[in-house]
Amino acid sequence: MTFSERTRAKRKIRLISELTEPVSEEISLPISIREATISDLEEVYKIELECFADDSFPKRLLETFLTSPECVTLIAVSDGEPLGFIAGSVEKLNEEPAGHISTLNVKRGQRRKGIGRRLLDAFEVALTERGVRTCFLEVRANNIAARNLYLKQGYRPLQKLRNYYGIGADGLRLKKNLVA
Ligand SMILES: CC(C)(COP(=O)(O)OP(=O)(O)OC[C@H]1O[C@@H](n2cnc3c(N)ncnc32)[C@H](O)[C@@H]1OP(=O)(O)O)[C@@H](O)C(=O)NCCC(=O)NCCS
Repeated sequence: MTFSERTRAKRKIRLISELTEPVSEEISLPISIREATISDLEEVYKIELECFADDSFPKRLLETFLTSPECVTLIAVSDGEPLGFIAGSVEKLNEEPAGHISTLNVKRGQRRKGIGRRLLDAFEVALTERGVRTCFLEVRANNIAARNLYLKQGYRPLQKLRNYYGIGADGLRLKKNLVA
C-alpha cells in the first residue's frame, strides 16, 4: 500500500465492529468500535489521563497515533460516549510488518464488560488487513487485569523486561501470532 493510500485509509472513518447486542446489562446501548481521528484527541487524552495519570502519554504522542499512517487507533463508543481506546503501530521487524500495541484503556466505570477484549479483537483485525502476522506489546508485570486479558486473548510471554517502567517496575513483552 502506498503512503497516500494508507493516509486515505486512515482518514476514512470506518466502522470496524458493531455490536447488535448490549455488551452487558449495565450498557443499555450497543457499542461500536471505529477508527479514531484527530477530532477524538481530547476524549482520547481524557481517557488516557484517567487510566494512567502521571504515567500517561503526552497529548502530542496521542496526536501522532491519530494522524500517522503507520498507526492504528480505535475507539469504542456507546451513544456518542467514548468508553475506551487502543492505539498502536505497524513496525518493520526482520523485514516483516509487525503490530505493536502502545496503549489500551477502558474508562473506570466501564471495565469488565468486554470492551477491552473487543478493542483488542478489532485492533488485530485492522492489523491483519494491513498484512501483519504478529503483534507485540509490553505490559507492567504487576498489571493483573491487562495480563489476564492479553493471556486470555492468546498473547504469550516473550521476554521479561527488568526495570522497564522505572526502578523496581518490571515489564513483560508479549507476542501473539495473528495467523495460524
Ligand atoms: C486492562 C483493561 C484495558 C481491561 O479492559 P476491560 O474492558 O475491563 O476488559 P474486559 O472486560 O474485556 O476483560 C477481558 C478479560 O480480561 C481479564 N480482566 C479484565 N479486568 C480484570 C481484572 N480487574 N482482574 C482480573 N482479570 C481481569 C479477565 O480475564 C476478563 O475476562 P472475564 O471478565 O470474562 O473474566 C482495563 O482494566 C484498563 O483500562 N486498565 C487501565 C489501563 C491499563 O492498564 N491498560 C493496559 C495497558 S498494557
